[in-house]
Amino acid sequence: MPIRKHKPFPNHFLWGGAIAANQTEGAFNQDGKGLSVDDVIPYIKPDQHGKMKMSNPDLKTIKEAKAGTSGNVYPKRWGIDFYHHYEEDIQLFAEMGFKALRISIAWSRIFPMGDELSPNEKGLLFYDRLFDALLAQGIEPVVTLSHYEIPLGLAEKYNGWADRRVIDCFVRYAKTVFKRYNTKVKYWITFNEINGILMGPFIAGGIITDRLKEDQLIQTIYQAAHHQFVAGALTVKACHTLCPDAKIGCMIAGVSVYPRSCKPEDVLAAMNEERRTLFFTDVQVRGYYPAYVRRFFTEHNMQIETQREDATILKEGRADFVAFSYYMSSVAEANKGELPVGRLFSEVKNPYLKSSDWGWSIDPQGLRYLLNILYDRYQKPLFIVENGLGAADKIEPDGSICDDYRIDYLRAHIEQMKEAIEDGVNLIGYTTWGPIDLISATTSEMSKRYGFIYVDQDNEGHGTLERKRKKSFYWYRNVIASNGEQLD
Ligand code: BG6
Repeated sequence: MPIRKHKPFPNHFLWGGAIAANQTEGAFNQDGKGLSVDDVIPYIKPDQHGKMKMSNPDLKTIKEAKAGTSGNVYPKRWGIDFYHHYEEDIQLFAEMGFKALRISIAWSRIFPMGDELSPNEKGLLFYDRLFDALLAQGIEPVVTLSHYEIPLGLAEKYNGWADRRVIDCFVRYAKTVFKRYNTKVKYWITFNEINGILMGPFIAGGIITDRLKEDQLIQTIYQAAHHQFVAGALTVKACHTLCPDAKIGCMIAGVSVYPRSCKPEDVLAAMNEERRTLFFTDVQVRGYYPAYVRRFFTEHNMQIETQREDATILKEGRADFVAFSYYMSSVAEANKGELPVGRLFSEVKNPYLKSSDWGWSIDPQGLRYLLNILYDRYQKPLFIVENGLGAADKIEPDGSICDDYRIDYLRAHIEQMKEAIEDGVNLIGYTTWGPIDLISATTSEMSKRYGFIYVDQDNEGHGTLERKRKKSFYWYRNVIASNGEQLD
């Protein structure tokens, strides 16, 4: 008998895909839904450098978007019309053998302005139907409570998470959905990429940045993050009470950070850059602020307002598992100065890695590295809830789409997941990003496609919305059927 080099993936490994309400559902103003921050984000035409930048619109831009006077298009308002196509799409996911689908609930579908006291029943009904359709196919819903879609009302009225009162709004929303879906959902995630607030304070935090003086911005972002930590911890506690069979995790945008050289200063720069992200999991998993961040606050003359009960809340509301997205790694170099708001990590090019057409470095081994870093640090189950390659697909004259580049990307990452499992990491699932093409988070374009399933729609929203299976569709079906053994 040949000796197996890698342990197989555990039984019940959660293979599947991940989507988000704001990038797929559309129906932005139907059945009582209110606007979310993403409904005022326009499609950004790619420029020379800005492929990675996120919109942080000012008040004037938001007003124009609402009035429809800007001349821009807002693709997240129509998504891929998943709201009306979900049954067909779930059928396709089931055909690939999905064990799990990560979705998010659009908070503004349940509480249209965000601060109402009672929910919108039609919004709740939509997710009832969605979960029922998934469960009927044996697909486990993995549900993010807030995926870059805070109600615009909260941004306008409170400046989003900058205001402590938003904690109550979020906890009310979370309790509403816990009570409603406690027999249907076993995996919850509080905030998508909570560290994304450093990059997109508007999308991730509902903060309208031109209301603040420049020197207030960074302090406001960390203040908002504190409110999210408290809200997240209260939500974890509520989930444990209202959904005793469920697990609830936190989530970050995961990035592995390498020093530019073995110069000690570069190594320390990498450590500090890595901590910008790990700070967010440290608080949510360990239940307290790490000492290094206190030094950061002091040195930046920042005072974060807290209340006496916060320390206990954080301690009692620790996440059950650590979820993360992984797309790329980063290189840190000393003496480059602080990373500005708008950047999650340095953009020093790694000469050893290739990049996607959108300039994102491709680094499968970085995934193994990060899995080990996170597991060594927390000893909690890990869940990769996003990973994938955004690419411009081409339809061949015979109608086929041969996305071998996507297959190569995913295969290489799955191989490294196996290595990490052999290293001893407890990995419970893998949901690739955008199993069906959807609207890009950073650029709001359609042409950056991640899917196994092609959607006929362009950046301006023209197209038939027809769904087509790509080559990767059949490949991923085999991966799942063989529990990760058959990767060719
Ligand atoms: C993650 C987000 O940052 O990356 C997703 O959670 C997003 O919402 C994904 O879509 C890929 O980014 P983009 O900009 O290529 O859509």
